[in-house]
Amino acid sequence: MSQQVYNFGAGPAMLPVSVMERIREEFLDFQGMGVSVIEVSHRAKQFEKVLLDAQESFRQLTNLPDNYKILFVHGGARMQFSALPMNLAGRSASKKCLYVETGNFAKLANKDAKGYGDIQVIASSADTSYDRLPAITPEMIDQDAAYLHITTNNTLYGSRYSQFPDAGNVPLIADQTSEILSRVVDYSKFGCIYAGLQKNLGPSGTAIVVIREDLLGHASAETPVLLNYEQCAKDNSLTNTANTFAIYVTGLVLEWLQEQGGIAAIEKINEQKAKTLYDLIDAGDYYRGVIQPEVRGTMNVSFNLASEELEAKFLKQAGEQGLYALKGHRSVGGIRASIYNAMPLAGVDTLASFMKEFESKNG
Ligand SMILES: Cc1ncc(COP(=O)(O)O)c(C=O)c1O
Repeated sequence: MSQQVYNFGAGPAMLPVSVMERIREEFLDFQGMGVSVIEVSHRAKQFEKVLLDAQESFRQLTNLPDNYKILFVHGGARMQFSALPMNLAGRSASKKCLYVETGNFAKLANKDAKGYGDIQVIASSADTSYDRLPAITPEMIDQDAAYLHITTNNTLYGSRYSQFPDAGNVPLIADQTSEILSRVVDYSKFGCIYAGLQKNLGPSGTAIVVIREDLLGHASAETPVLLNYEQCAKDNSLTNTANTFAIYVTGLVLEWLQEQGGIAAIEKINEQKAKTLYDLIDAGDYYRGVIQPEVRGTMNVSFNLASEELEAKFLKQAGEQGLYALKGHRSVGGIRASIYNAMPLAGVDTLASFMKEFESKNG
């Protein structure tokens, strides 16, 4: 038996082992059809059921109100950075789209949006290297705006909103890529949430977009048909050949989540995992967290050691012990443990033991 490996990669990230085993089992013969799921037509009734079941599982897990559509769209999360203003800036004559910049992806979100609306960054924590989340007060939100965009979990740093800004009548739009389904969230507070699948849901390259129905129908005339959310909703995500494999895997991951007891149950485990690592960070000054304690989330734990040499040694030895992909993002450096829903407690405990041992030998 080869060494047990725990994958702490930020995305594409680990999936539940039982899901991957099921994919392997079914791969050559999907539902007795004698063909693989990746060979079945996206218009076949068997695939239609896969899609409808995935949407239904998502709806049940999140308690999603009926007036929200669930779409699967091409191009991952980043494609939505442009698609959002294309679809939504036209809601307001002012075309004002408000953004809060709390990290690298939040910055890309407003950068990619430029040209499709009057893009305004109303608050940013760039001046403190995104170590915090800037306060958003009602006066900062122009009620004439088409939407307010936030990134609920900042993947490179691990900061997360515990409470979401109150945008009044302006729809709140959230990039939930690195935390979707990791905690109970009241979706009725949002006009739209979206996420690349590759962290808590499935393979990369596709995004899930959950959007309130009244926000459809405002796309600019130039919006490419495959980025038009209204069209996507009309065609139930099958305007062209959908990423059938990604939707199939997502359906299995959602079933797995239901088996775990749903989102409230996984949230507790996520809290426990993050606490294990943050307790260790807080126990001394050997490991130094990159964000302010009050904005810590549960999905990405980023920290530094005293020097880059020590970090390189840490990463090398961790890798030798089967603790894979702990290197921080190239723009932040240091160490990052991504501990999404699929990461078992045992993986985090193994990492914590390694960290203690490393400190005692290299303190
Ligand atoms: C918060 C966040 N938004 C957007 C993205 C971009 O996702 P994609 O690579 O699917 O475009 C990522 C990727 O890690 C992310 O973490």
